Amino acid sequence: MKRPRKVLLLGAGGMGMAPLALYLRGAGVRVEAFDHQFREPLRTKLEESGVRILHEPEPHLKPDCVIRSSAIAGDEPVVAAWEASGIPVYKRGDFLAELFSRKKVVAVVGSHGKTSVAGRIAWALNRLNFPISYLVGAQFKDAGVPSGKFANSPWVLLEVDESDGTIDRFSPAITVALNCDWDHVDRYECRDSFLETLKSLFHRTKQAVICPDVEPLVSMVKKETGVKSVIYPGLKKPHQFSKSNELAVISLIEQLNVSCTSLDFNEFPGMERRQSILFDDGKRCVVEDYAHHPTEIRSFIELRRKLEPAKSMKLIFQPHRYSRTQSLAQEFAEELACADQVLLLPTYSAFEPYDERGTVETLTGYLPPRLREGTRIYQEFGDLRRSLNRNVNEATNDQLLFVGAGDIDRWAHAFSAWEHSQGDKCSAFGIFLDNRLSAGTMLSQDYPLGSMTTMGVGGNTRWYAEPANTEDLRSLVEACKLFELPRAMMGRGSNLIVPDDGFGGLVLKLRGKFWSSIEQRCENSLIVGAGAKLKDICKYSCKKGLKGFEFLEGIPGTLGGALRMNAGAMGWETFDLVEWVSFLLPDGKIVEIPGNELEVGYRYCKEAYEGIALRAKLKAEGRAKHQEIRKVIDSLARARRNSQPREASSGCVFRNTDKYSAGWLIDQSGMKGERIGGAAVSGLHANFILNRGDATATEVINLILKVRERVKNSHGLMLEPEVNLLGQSWEQYLS
Ligand code: EPU
Repeated sequence: MKRPRKVLLLGAGGMGMAPLALYLRGAGVRVEAFDHQFREPLRTKLEESGVRILHEPEPHLKPDCVIRSSAIAGDEPVVAAWEASGIPVYKRGDFLAELFSRKKVVAVVGSHGKTSVAGRIAWALNRLNFPISYLVGAQFKDAGVPSGKFANSPWVLLEVDESDGTIDRFSPAITVALNCDWDHVDRYECRDSFLETLKSLFHRTKQAVICPDVEPLVSMVKKETGVKSVIYPGLKKPHQFSKSNELAVISLIEQLNVSCTSLDFNEFPGMERRQSILFDDGKRCVVEDYAHHPTEIRSFIELRRKLEPAKSMKLIFQPHRYSRTQSLAQEFAEELACADQVLLLPTYSAFEPYDERGTVETLTGYLPPRLREGTRIYQEFGDLRRSLNRNVNEATNDQLLFVGAGDIDRWAHAFSAWEHSQGDKCSAFGIFLDNRLSAGTMLSQDYPLGSMTTMGVGGNTRWYAEPANTEDLRSLVEACKLFELPRAMMGRGSNLIVPDDGFGGLVLKLRGKFWSSIEQRCENSLIVGAGAKLKDICKYSCKKGLKGFEFLEGIPGTLGGALRMNAGAMGWETFDLVEWVSFLLPDGKIVEIPGNELEVGYRYCKEAYEGIALRAKLKAEGRAKHQEIRKVIDSLARARRNSQPREASSGCVFRNTDKYSAGWLIDQSGMKGERIGGAAVSGLHANFILNRGDATATEVINLILKVRERVKNSHGLMLEPEVNLLGQSWEQYLS
């Protein structure tokens, strides 16, 4: 393979691909990276190294090749499209095998501990100034140490993964084989077939094979390989795995003719998600671990029992992959039975299709009755949290172990944030998000909202955020869900009344360049961010000679708000323009829905209430000279100025009824000029309530109720408010 100069990475947010992105950047390759979900702080690290993060899998540069994570199947349309265009697409492992075919590869293999060992080797060799490139499958706990590094050296350190079959393509200089349990049951029919794979890797190894003094590895290495075998003492006790890892590292370093007597392994920062103590107040500790195989669970439980013999053990486990759960259900249950209490999460699919035989229920069937009866399967973090709640004055003495390789780490961190906050969900929200948002995101506490609305009344919100990008928005939404904190979107605050006592949750505003982009992608349509102001869309389309956007001129909102409300004016409404909208759904997924499939009505769009509109494609009615479009805009603006007040207001307060305009009804009932405190019914348009300068939200709300009562008495009609009340529903006020 010719060394690529420009690459596109697909699925780059995972810990297989991200270190590769860092390595390639270090080697001077131009890297563009796409993933449906990047997480902080990884995303920022990639960006800082010069990787270009993509929001769609379309690169800016034509790549020399595309590299896909093994989580992206070879038959996915995006892969097929690149292949059809003649650009080679490599699976990560195949790419590494080719890229490093002329390097001296140190391959760390085995069923458990690859990342822990590779991380220690990378750290140790760096300390000892031995130049080596490396890719390690987790982040270091010391954020300063990158998980992937390029060095000008013939040596490269890799974890060679048996799970996707690419192990067969490597011929390492040195192989470090840690153990050989049966795992990845979808690829290896039984343990023997995995052993065959290892045997042939040993055959292809050029310089030395390092392994512990444990059968069958040691016999295989001695008998089957022509190269030097280096055997280190195999420690028999499961909880001694860290020591055993160190011995593997020392053996490897000695093979490189480097002295490691100066090394103190106590200084090793550790790898993320490995035996991490997230909280400990003496009475309770919260620990997370990546264990996802029965052997790993046994080792981890034994280690914890040794470290905290007096603490009762609650094990929260998320099985990883249906295939593994199905094949090893009984073994899992036997290991889990060593805990005092077991709490379960549904199986994490890791891209496998749903398979009933591998659900967590299969596993519970094997638990001893003592545990089975007390075990629940948790779909929601809030329920798990309530199950684990304690009274701080209570004499608890327990350790909570969050175990698994899926996304259980979020729950582990959320629970420790909860403990750190001593059970205050608003504080827990802030603690959880610390270090999970990029620097460009603004997150503030007790933020005044009144001045951010056109009405200009109301109190503070407990949290306020302006996310810098979609990933941060998703993290904020996820944190709200975890801590059951209400959230609300704010556009330009033009249709919103903030109550005087504020809002006890998170207010989100899509503000800044990322959200307000307006781009003409093809002849007659625009792709617009949800944070773009309607007036700017109107201006932009006028300049480009696109018709149909003129009515947006007078609506003082953003596209996000207009989609949510299906805002309209002068006989048009927002969804007249929409070709598709992309939404962030409450479960974190992003979907693009065509306009004609959305549930839309008068001042209503269902999907935009449930999810958050991110971007939309808006189509023009046609083309015209920009002077003609300008004329239409000017005449609409004149009509608006003549019929609508300019003072502070929330626009129209009530919806029109089927038959009558709300403004006409209010006018007819003689309410123009009516006041409560600083709030007044406009004399120009009766459906507007004005803030005369010093109104409170309560005065505005009371005036709305008074108007409604009057129209009911005069015309027998109940007006329904169109304007929104932040965090409250009108129902509590309306009788
Ligand atoms: N009218 C009165 N007295 C008044 C106000 C209105 O008699 O004090 C009469 C007008 O003379 C007219 C009729 O009521 O015959 C309708 O009024 P208008 O043309 O002003 O429209 P509207 O139905 O009150 C709607 C939207 C406005 C939008 C305008 C212009 C609603 C609830 N309101 O108002 O939207 O700007 O059309 O297209 O749908 C908003 O959504 O916040 C808003 C202000």
